[in-house]
Amino acid sequence: MTTGSIIAADLVLAVLAAAGWLGAGAAAVAGRRRLASGLALAALAATLGRAVTTIALARAGWWFAAEKVVVAAPLSLAAVVVGGRRLLRPAPVAYLFAGYATTGGLLVTVLHGYPVSVGAALLAVAGIAAATAVTGRLVHRRTSRTGLVVAVAALVAGTGFAVAPGTAPPAGHEHRPVAAPKVGEPTKRFTLTAGTAGDAWAFNGQVPGPELAATVGDVLEVTLRNRDIERGVTLHWHGYDVPNDQDGVPGVTQEVVRPGGQFVYRFRADQTGTYWYHTHSASDLGVRKGLYGVLVVRPGPVDGVDGVDVTVPVHTLNGRSLPAARTEVLAPGTPVRLRLINTDSTTHRYAVAGAPFRVVAIDGVDLAGPGMLTGTALLVPAGGRFDVVTTAPAALFVDGRLVHATGPVPPVPGAWPVLDPLTYGAAAPAPRTGFDRSLTLVLDRGLDLRGLLPRYAHTVNGAAGPGIPAQVVRRGELVRLTVVNRSLVVHPWHLHGHHVLVLSRDGRPPAGALWVDSFDVRPGEVWEVAFRADNPGMWANHCHNLPHADAGMMLHLSYI
Ligand code: C2O
Ligand code: CU
Repeated sequence: MTTGSIIAADLVLAVLAAAGWLGAGAAAVAGRRRLASGLALAALAATLGRAVTTIALARAGWWFAAEKVVVAAPLSLAAVVVGGRRLLRPAPVAYLFAGYATTGGLLVTVLHGYPVSVGAALLAVAGIAAATAVTGRLVHRRTSRTGLVVAVAALVAGTGFAVAPGTAPPAGHEHRPVAAPKVGEPTKRFTLTAGTAGDAWAFNGQVPGPELAATVGDVLEVTLRNRDIERGVTLHWHGYDVPNDQDGVPGVTQEVVRPGGQFVYRFRADQTGTYWYHTHSASDLGVRKGLYGVLVVRPGPVDGVDGVDVTVPVHTLNGRSLPAARTEVLAPGTPVRLRLINTDSTTHRYAVAGAPFRVVAIDGVDLAGPGMLTGTALLVPAGGRFDVVTTAPAALFVDGRLVHATGPVPPVPGAWPVLDPLTYGAAAPAPRTGFDRSLTLVLDRGLDLRGLLPRYAHTVNGAAGPGIPAQVVRRGELVRLTVVNRSLVVHPWHLHGHHVLVLSRDGRPPAGALWVDSFDVRPGEVWEVAFRADNPGMWANHCHNLPHADAGMMLHLSYI
C-alpha cells in the first residue's frame, strides 16, 4: 500500500469512527438499543483500526502522523475507554462523548494538520468538553461542573496558544530585487503585447504567444506591453534561471504592468533547452486564459541540423485542447525532436507511437545516457518539459489525442506503462552529505483564518500564502529541500531561479543525475532535492497547480 492510500484509508476510518459513535449516541437517545449497540461496535472497530493506519503513517514519516499520534490517538483512546465500556448497555452520553472525541481528532487533521499545535489540540479538547457538558445537561438534566471547567480552561489556553505570535523569523520582508549584472547589447529583441482577444487573453493577439527562439549566448531583450489586461501582466521565464529582477513576480521582483504600461526584460541566454514564459500576475487566470508562450534556446543555428525540431506546448483554453493536431509527412528515418511542454495546471500523459524514442532532456537539462524506449508513456508535470527524440514516421498523442504525426498515424496507444524518470539514464551519484542547510515543505490543506473570510487553503507547513514565512538561505550554500505531500492531491512543485537535483523520492535515489524545475509530488510522497544557492534574490517557491498557488500554496525563498 502506498503512503497516499494509507492517508486516504486513515481519513475514511476517522470519518467512519466519528459518524459511528455519533450515530450510536443518537440511536441510544431515541431508545433504539440494538441499533445503538451495533453502531457502537462498528465505531469501535474503526477507532481501533486507526491505530494501524496511524502507526503505518508514522513509519512513513513523522510529518504524516504527528497530529494523529499526539492529538487524535489520545482522543481515540478516551473514546474507546468511555464508549467501549458501554458497548452492550447503550449509554447516550458515553457514545456521544466518544463521537465528539473522534470528531475532534478528525478535525485537527483536516483543518490543522502538520505541525502539531498545542492551540489546536486545546481547542479540540474545549469543544469536546463543552459538547459533552451540553449533552449531559440535555439528556440527564444535570450539568457537569468538571466538563464546564475543562471546556473553559481549554478554550482560554487554546485561544492563547492559537493567537500567540509565532516564533518564525521575520525574514524576507525586504522585497527589493537584486539588480542584474550588466548583460551587454541585446542580440535578439522581441515585443509582447498582452491584450484581450475574444474570451481569451493573448500576447500579440495569439495563443500561445509568439515562440521566442534564441541561440545560447544571445542577449534577449523582451519588451512587455499591456494593452488592456485589467489584472495586470508580467513575464516569468519558467525554468530559466534569470537574475532576480528579471523573474517577473509582481510585488516581489517588479511592479505589475498595468494597462498602458510596459516593462523591458533583459537577460543573457546561457542555458540551452526548452522553457516557457507566462504572466505571473493573477497567474491562475492569466495563464489559463492564454498568456503564455514557448522559449527555446538552442546550442547553435538550426539550419544545417538534420531533421525537424517541433515545440508542443499543451494547453487547455476554454475547454479546447491546444495545439491542434498537425501532420507533416517526412522521409522515413528523418530525426524528429519533440519539445513537450505542459502549460496546464495538471499532469498530462504523452505517448510516442510508431517509432522508438529517447527522452533526451527534462526541464531544459540534457540527460546522460538516455535509453531507447518503446511502448512507454510519459507523464509531464504541470510546468514541466520533456524533450523527446525519435524518427519519422512517428506520432505523438497527448491524453489519447493525436497532436503531431510525421507519417501514417498508428492506432491510439493503450494503457502503456509510464516512464519513471528516476529509473532512467546513466548512473551518476548525487551528493548525500555536505549540505549547509536543510529546508522542509509539508504540503497539506487547512483552515486559514488570516483573511477577511475563512478559507480552506492549500497549506505549506501549516500556513497559507501570503502568510507563510520566507525560507532563508545564504549565498553559496548547498541546500537540501525536502518536500512532503500529506494531502490527497498531486502538487507539481516549482522553485524559481534554481534548478534542483533530485536526491531521492521516498528514500530511493534516482538512477541518473536528474535536474528539474517542476516535479510532481504525489500524495504520500517525500522528495529530497538539492540546489546551490547561487542566484541571490527573493524567489517564489510554489505549487504549479496554479489554483493551489492562489489558494495559499506559495511561499518565498530569500537570501540573507
Ligand atoms: Cu511557471 Cu511561479 O511559475
Ligand atoms: Cu498543488
